[in-house]
Amino acid sequence: MKTYPCRSLIFLYYLLLLVAVPCVYAGESAWNGHTPPGSSALGPLRSEYVPPGAKGYPSTSPLISYKGDWKTLYSSNFYNNAARYTSQEHASMTFSFTGTGIEWFGNCGEEYGIAQVYIDKTHVASVNTYCDSNLPQPGQRHFGEYRLPSGKHTLTIIAVGTCDATSFVVTRAKGSSSHSQKKPRFSENQWTLTQEGSTGVNAMQIAVLDEAHAIIFDKVEHNPLTINSHPSWASLFNLKTRKVIPLDMQSNSFCAGGSFLSNGTLINVGGNPVVTDHTSPSDFGDVDGLQSIRLVHPCSDGHYSVAESHDTVRMASPRWYSTSIRLDDGSVAIIGGSKKGGWINNATVNNPTIEYFPPKDIQGSNGLPILLPFLKDTLNSNLFPIVCSLPDGRLFIAANNDAMIYDWKNNVEQRLPPIPNGVRVTYPMAGTGLLLPLSSANGYAPEILLCGGSDVDDTKAGYEISSQDPASSQCSRMVLTDEGISAGWEVDQMPRARLMPDAVLLPDGKIVFVNGAGSGISGYGNVVDQVGVSNADKPVLIPDLYDPSLALGSRFSSEALPSSAIPRMYHSVAIQTPAGDIMIAGSNPNLDRSEVAYGTEYRVEWLSPPYMRGPRPQILRHNAVLGFGEEATMTVKLVKPNSNDVRVVLMDHGFVTHAVHSNSRMVYLDCLNISGDTITIKGPPDGGVYPPGPGFLYIVEDGVPCEGVRIMVGDGKGPQVNQAALENMLKSTQPDQYEKSKTSQDNDNDGE
Ligand SMILES: *[C@@H]1O[C@H](CO)[C@@H](O)[C@H](O)[C@H]1NC(C)=O
Ligand SMILES: *[C@@H]1O[C@H](CO)[C@@H](O)[C@H](O)[C@H]1NC(C)=O
Ligand SMILES: *[C@@H]1O[C@H](CO)[C@@H](O)[C@H](O)[C@H]1NC(C)=O
Repeated sequence: MKTYPCRSLIFLYYLLLLVAVPCVYAGESAWNGHTPPGSSALGPLRSEYVPPGAKGYPSTSPLISYKGDWKTLYSSNFYNNAARYTSQEHASMTFSFTGTGIEWFGNCGEEYGIAQVYIDKTHVASVNTYCDSNLPQPGQRHFGEYRLPSGKHTLTIIAVGTCDATSFVVTRAKGSSSHSQKKPRFSENQWTLTQEGSTGVNAMQIAVLDEAHAIIFDKVEHNPLTINSHPSWASLFNLKTRKVIPLDMQSNSFCAGGSFLSNGTLINVGGNPVVTDHTSPSDFGDVDGLQSIRLVHPCSDGHYSVAESHDTVRMASPRWYSTSIRLDDGSVAIIGGSKKGGWINNATVNNPTIEYFPPKDIQGSNGLPILLPFLKDTLNSNLFPIVCSLPDGRLFIAANNDAMIYDWKNNVEQRLPPIPNGVRVTYPMAGTGLLLPLSSANGYAPEILLCGGSDVDDTKAGYEISSQDPASSQCSRMVLTDEGISAGWEVDQMPRARLMPDAVLLPDGKIVFVNGAGSGISGYGNVVDQVGVSNADKPVLIPDLYDPSLALGSRFSSEALPSSAIPRMYHSVAIQTPAGDIMIAGSNPNLDRSEVAYGTEYRVEWLSPPYMRGPRPQILRHNAVLGFGEEATMTVKLVKPNSNDVRVVLMDHGFVTHAVHSNSRMVYLDCLNISGDTITIKGPPDGGVYPPGPGFLYIVEDGVPCEGVRIMVGDGKGPQVNQAALENMLKSTQPDQYEKSKTSQDNDNDGE
């Protein structure tokens, strides 16, 4: 297999840098327990939940037939006040249903044992209903299957030891496909779109960790994937096997952002308050995520874990919908957001500041947040600002209808001309933005592209905005040099209007636009003409291809890219994978998991460029670390021995959420020599051109990229820690401020 050499190098890289990190971390206990409605005492979580659009059947339903010795237990603890249980081996229950999925809920306990589960007479699982509790713990999901072909099915459960049932939930996701879907054949010169795999949790946020793994963050909700007796809110997706495993996470990462640090550690930043029975059908026992900084650590088994400890690692201030960006010194800037969850931003909840991880002392800030007047001036629709780190180290920031360049080292704002035609580009009028590929050929002159969004008036109340208000098709481009800025924004039109688009940079320098809505705005439950509870409608199902190197008017390809059947609007993502295809996942404009239009979407699609199916160049050997300005030699295998169009690109695939692809970046590296099977390249000149940290290296021969390999750019070391600033921040700010402020006033508007 052509991927072997790359794999062995990855392995070597782990041995050198990341070996033997166990997945056990000190900190707060991982599972806080569940507080039942009307109580303040912690108890086990009940995951029994009937999503809107699904149907629940109590165990006493006449549609369920029992064979053998079954008894009924009555208690207000159980769904419909009853549980049917048996201790007789071979006793069975059979339930015929019509749908695409089925869940079985019941009690667990120390006297409980194993049951065998069959669907349509095929054995599908052996379920152990034991748990370490002398009283039966109600509401546990014993089994779930969600991807049956739409139609009539039979679930049979056969007892081996003691087991019970309190309820069954039949799901009916539209357009679900069976496991044994055959992959169609495609011709070599076509783009393809295939559906394979499930994310297990809604893919609200995604980042590629290495050649084989993407990490997915969701909010706290009833997902099909379970971990440690509660629904999972994060998962690790294997890009090669397309299988998913749950990750445990303590705090509510609802609308968090993220970034890698220069040492390769991913941080996931911010979130929302504890989910209570005011904000969800259940209290999940999560902790306040508003000031969280979750560290993603590699484990010795090749997996990853998420660790947090708010007493020592956190933000100074609460942030929901902030953007994180890696800086030229390898640290991360955390920008804007709202002090609590809600909807459109306003002066009461705005957090118009920037802070850093690790905390910095900038002009006397001593670890504390610094005011950004720009984030006051850009109210109301300024959440999840679009931020890019520029080659001179400054930050481009777009929010609402405005943009600026921020010199963070000196705390100076340089305002740019407003985005033309009143188009707003940030939440809830979300567009997307990218820094176009950088090259030494033009002295790394940065050029920014902003596309989509909406010109809906952001001072209107929700009842004055409709899910049918049209989105914008505008793209605005500007070269961020003095001449470029005085020339102003150049306006182009996408073939289709999109709110919440995802713009994915490909290794060949082109950009794919996918996902999004043709009308409405982001969020749910706020505007008129909601679809289900979605504030947006008219899902855009056709991807568009954009070549930034072509002349205005000819950049969007007229080539027909394959259309999807799956709406991907609020809380959906798309990201470039190192293998070369684009992973498309998520969509969840709902308070919790739902199956009404537009329901919670777990299916994954793979948009695959034609070059995935022809001969491709390969990187056979490379160094794990690429220093700034350093020469490095790679061993490669080109398709043609004397190709004269070979380029080497360094990419950051970004941290993707809410149409914001933060840190997404591509740099053409200088090739000093290409001779036979060796290519000598020069590392990027400095952290301005490519902030130190992880990246993927590709060679692109005649427009065909190889599979990318992960490298560390810079020296692989962590960002400098200013101990005094860190200590001052920890000393002068409280952890979980929002949760603490709530004890006096019971807040019930933490939603969307
Ligand atoms: C500001 O936003 C918060 C959160 O959505 C909301 O609770 C509050 O009512 C808003 N305040 C004003 C003055 O609109
Ligand atoms: C390029 O590399 C080849 C093989 O290592 C070497 O023979 C040749 O002199 C190099 N050319 C330049 C211009 O350095
Ligand atoms: C990277 O740096 C951060 C910040 O100092 C630190 O918390 C983290 O543990 C480091 N990661 C590794 C792998 O050393």
